[in-house]
Amino acid sequence: MTTNSKRHAVYPGTFDPITNGHHDLVRRASGIFDRVVIAIAANPNKAPMFSLDERVELARRVLADLPAVEVMGYSGLTVDFARQHGCGVVIRGLRAVSDFEFEFQLANMSRHLDRDVDYVFLTPQEQFTFISSTLVREIATLGGDVSKFVHPVVEEQLKRKRRR
Ligand SMILES: Nc1ncnc2c1ncn2[C@@H]1O[C@H](COP(=O)(O)OP(=O)(O)OP(=O)(O)O)[C@@H](O)[C@H]1O
Ligand SMILES: [Mg+2]
Repeated sequence: MTTNSKRHAVYPGTFDPITNGHHDLVRRASGIFDRVVIAIAANPNKAPMFSLDERVELARRVLADLPAVEVMGYSGLTVDFARQHGCGVVIRGLRAVSDFEFEFQLANMSRHLDRDVDYVFLTPQEQFTFISSTLVREIATLGGDVSKFVHPVVEEQLKRKRRR
């Protein structure tokens, strides 16, 4: 039986694809916790642009500069993933008040599923508050410049998707 360490955190999301906003949050989290596990949800119902393997690979490359960070794919409940990997904390990001309602509901529901998991919310630096994967995908699909919002390897893969 693994113990849920409060020094170990999981940061779940779809990361379709990983953005500079996500990177900012992971960097902050890695300065607070001993270990941060990025948990990339398969989320087939969201019909992701990038496959799970592609999203994991991109996140690994983008986050390679950060210590004590691991990237894994998962399907199933986040609280189950957290428990399986010994994480007692779940990290989520808040960009604006509009994120709050959903995140608040999610955190409270999760606590009903597993009362040992705590949610911690981080806010990004201001210039990242308007970045979402959805907007990045839309801009890239329409041929816009996303170089200020994503890592160059992500920009390159978005261009490849567009050429296909
Ligand atoms: N720019 C950002 N700044 C801070 N937190 C963020 C940012 N983008 C995403 N997050 C947070 O990261 C977590 C995982 O987000 P997710 O993978 O759904 O990204 P997203 O950008 O919201 O993607 P989508 O637009 O597809 O929903 C969520 O808690 C979300 O609020
Ligand atoms: Mg989202």
